[in-house]
Amino acid sequence: MSKNIESHQIEDRVFLPADEFSRKARISSLAQYKKLYKESMEKPGVFWGREAKELLWHKPWSKVLEWKAPFAKWFVGGKLNVAENCVDRHACGERANKAAIIFEGEPGDKRVITYAQLRRDVCRFANVLVNNGIKSGDRVLIYMPMIPEAAIAMLACARIGAVHSVVFGGFSADSIVDRLEDSGATTIITADGGWRRGKIIPLKENVDSAMEKFTHIRKVIVYQRCGNPVIMAPGRDVWWHEESVKVSSTHKAKYFDSEHPLFILYTSGSTGKPKGILHTSGGYLTGTYTSFKYVFDIREEDVYWCTADVGWITGHSYIVYGPLANGATQVMYEGAPNQPDFGRFWKIIEENGVSIFYTAPTAIRAFIKAGDHFPANYDLSSLRLLGSVGEPINPEAWMWYHQKIGGGRCPIVDTWWQTETGSIMITPLPGCTPLKPGTATLPFFGVDAAILDETGRECKANEGGKLVIRKPWPAMTRTIYGDKARYKKTYWSDYEGIYTAGDGARCDKAGNFWIVGRIDDVLNVSGHRLGTAEVESSLVSHPAVAESAVVGRPDEIKGQGVVAFVTLKESHSPSEALRKELRDHVGKSIGAIAKPDAVYFAPALPKTRSGKIMRRLLKELVSTGDISGNITTLDDITVLANLKASMTS
Ligand code: PRX
Repeated sequence: MSKNIESHQIEDRVFLPADEFSRKARISSLAQYKKLYKESMEKPGVFWGREAKELLWHKPWSKVLEWKAPFAKWFVGGKLNVAENCVDRHACGERANKAAIIFEGEPGDKRVITYAQLRRDVCRFANVLVNNGIKSGDRVLIYMPMIPEAAIAMLACARIGAVHSVVFGGFSADSIVDRLEDSGATTIITADGGWRRGKIIPLKENVDSAMEKFTHIRKVIVYQRCGNPVIMAPGRDVWWHEESVKVSSTHKAKYFDSEHPLFILYTSGSTGKPKGILHTSGGYLTGTYTSFKYVFDIREEDVYWCTADVGWITGHSYIVYGPLANGATQVMYEGAPNQPDFGRFWKIIEENGVSIFYTAPTAIRAFIKAGDHFPANYDLSSLRLLGSVGEPINPEAWMWYHQKIGGGRCPIVDTWWQTETGSIMITPLPGCTPLKPGTATLPFFGVDAAILDETGRECKANEGGKLVIRKPWPAMTRTIYGDKARYKKTYWSDYEGIYTAGDGARCDKAGNFWIVGRIDDVLNVSGHRLGTAEVESSLVSHPAVAESAVVGRPDEIKGQGVVAFVTLKESHSPSEALRKELRDHVGKSIGAIAKPDAVYFAPALPKTRSGKIMRRLLKELVSTGDISGNITTLDDITVLANLKASMTS
């Protein structure tokens, strides 16, 4: 039975967990949450030490935390093998024949991989990596579809101490080049292709184009997924299946230092090229293991499904490391949510008895638009818990998710976190936290979140400011790969010894955090970060473009859409064909996700006297159609009329 308190004002709606849910939950009351939270703040060594001990360590740590801001070391001196914790630990025990991954390909092919089978697959592929000359510390780029082999490749790297860098399969060849150059990877694991909306994404072909520009690749291991023809360079390119039969399915794990690098994941920043966010082993595993356990309150009989792609941090932390470290059963789906129609997700939930479903607001909005009849056609009664991640969830979308998908009975965990934080930071705990649509609610254990104003003063209730974290946490990024200075400047320079997330937020009287969105020049398109500077650089690299400014505008489905203002070189003139060419150019150099929804040709961009583009004015123009903000610093006022005209031509 639900104890929901409802009032007529949307902001005041509070949803309390049902008694039945709370009774079974690990954390079943706010008092219990507060007690553990207090311990995690006052005695982090005790709290995190206890959690980490639930994992398998080859050598115990001597100290839980060594903190020389902004550089943290967790579980100092400890040694472990991350893959052994995610796979062998279960494969050798009662979970040996439990399903680890229930896979469904977009064309409808299905596979169930037990923990025992996963162990054989990971061990075999670890041997393949070793056989192909890959050693501990080497960087390996993974560019795969959403198939179990993506997780197997990541775990095999972890098993031998190689550092994986997964590139989302929707990114282009040029994005691969940037990541190869920065990480210095010499091995690529890919597939011939992957299925998406009934078409084959030519992954190997994209890798081939990237290798024309980056020539240091020694080995490319190709998994055969779609059977599309590919060119294999003798000596360099090898087939996954052919290499696999040459090696055994057992592999003796080696043990690595708790601070051994586990992976680099690239994410957009406000300036320049994507940043290589580095995560290490013991702390990251403890953070993802613990948060997954409490936030999803995972049970032996649960069937969990996270719809993210392994190419994003959500896929790393809450498809691969968190769930597998907990010995969970999960669904993995390769394709699009609307293939063949918008009922696909609900069909997967019905057929597999999914009990925990974790997705993004952008997907929820697309489902709302598609129509209620899609979910209504399926039996969703197996669901007991829902999750949301990637951007603020609008209260209306929250309500729809709660009613139409959760049948009014499932708590929703709105989880705030980032590539850099590694694990969930602000979130309800489903058995105890009163939920309000639109807020990620309270800090997770060990997370000292606060809202500060420009001077470093803590904001009062409901006063907006910058979201910060004041204490280190186990899964935090250790640095930007190869660029400590940028790491310090980006996250630790606003306030001494304090992590700045780059998000604006406010905290209500009950201590709930309401995230407003990014405060830097970073867009959030469909729950994914995109730097405006990256899209601008791409546009300027086109021969017709002299200058460009990119801003976001509110978008019903995607959260934000990309809008580009472009000034052409004298030798070129605006045309529809050029507009399309520029959109495709961005798609080719970054990926389809970055393609501008609109390209406006402007004779000049609004600038300050010192030449800085006033994006603030452009943002206002694209969202309201007019400019009423302060224009006193604008160098040339005539620019504005031309800009407005550009939007209608
Ligand atoms: O702006 C916040 C938004 O997504 C950003 C992090 O993006 P990324 O590193 O790509 O990771 C996304 C998946 C963890 C944050 O700075 N964001 C993420 N989750 C939420 C959110 N905004 C509001 N509410 C959330 N639950």
